[in-house]
Amino acid sequence: ATTLRGYADARGTKIGAAVADGPLRNESAYTTVLDREFNSLTAENAMKWDALEPNRGSYDWAAADRLVDRAAAHNQGVRGHTLVWHSQLPSWLKNGNFSASELNTILKKHIDTTVGRYKGRVYAWDVVNEAFDENGTMRRNSLWQEKLGTGHIANALRWAHAADPSAKLYINDYNIEADNAKSDGLYDLARQLLAQGVPLDGIGFQSHFVVGQVPSSMKANLKRFSDLGLEVSVTELDVRIPLPASSAELDQQSADYKTASENCLGVPRCAGVTVWGVTDKYSWIPGTFNGYGAALPYNGSYAAKPAYTGLSKGL
Ligand code: XIL
Repeated sequence: ATTLRGYADARGTKIGAAVADGPLRNESAYTTVLDREFNSLTAENAMKWDALEPNRGSYDWAAADRLVDRAAAHNQGVRGHTLVWHSQLPSWLKNGNFSASELNTILKKHIDTTVGRYKGRVYAWDVVNEAFDENGTMRRNSLWQEKLGTGHIANALRWAHAADPSAKLYINDYNIEADNAKSDGLYDLARQLLAQGVPLDGIGFQSHFVVGQVPSSMKANLKRFSDLGLEVSVTELDVRIPLPASSAELDQQSADYKTASENCLGVPRCAGVTVWGVTDKYSWIPGTFNGYGAALPYNGSYAAKPAYTGLSKGL
């Protein structure tokens, strides 16, 4: 095998990329890499609530359908991202001052509609995204947590399971890769949900890392979740570098990609690794982390970086 996809297929695992709709529509260099290197796709934004239902009751499925159709045409799986999140909510929902019972109905309808539409075509859903604060308690600045309490998580998983019984259902978060207060909080919740028979199948470790800082406890931490019988996946891997990136940093980044992917694939029930983008040209990093960039396996001209080789060695 000489592509990421080839290595992942040979190993029976997934190598995914987050896909931006703009270049998917009109940039052949982008789609060429996507088709050749990846066997799983995640919509970077197109399946978020603000994209799907910008006005209440009026849905725009165009970009999400484009991704799902394209994946089918190229023999790729789809990870659905994401159903319950405090961020990227449409303003009608964020500012609607709904009661708890109204929000419960609205959330159930969103999950029924979205999971139902892609039933059988999405192999895993990030049902719940970023539900924790750094200290391991439930996130306070979330509409869902604030109005519905922690019970909304079990409800969301049950509704998603009813809408597509074959999709693997995930809780996804960042800064949970290490054994720390936040991953401890999630671990406790996961155990409780499983004990209650809630259909939780996996944990998604976003893995937005800084160069040289893949946590040393990552593999052991993923293993404790897999020991609960859960799948684990790296869902949003990138490794940001203070700009301009030196060649030493690009080499360290390569080692980090290898380590991060090995940390997942070396654990039982690792379902695969997804990188949060393809090329540095469209990465979310420079717009979010001031002074950082160069976080992905391909540079802005679609040349494979050392990180590409590191990632391929980790697969
Ligand atoms: C990011 C996208 O990459 C950006 O394009 C968008 O403006 C904001 O969201 N954690 C997540 C992802 O779960 O959905 C986020 O994606 C990155 C952090």
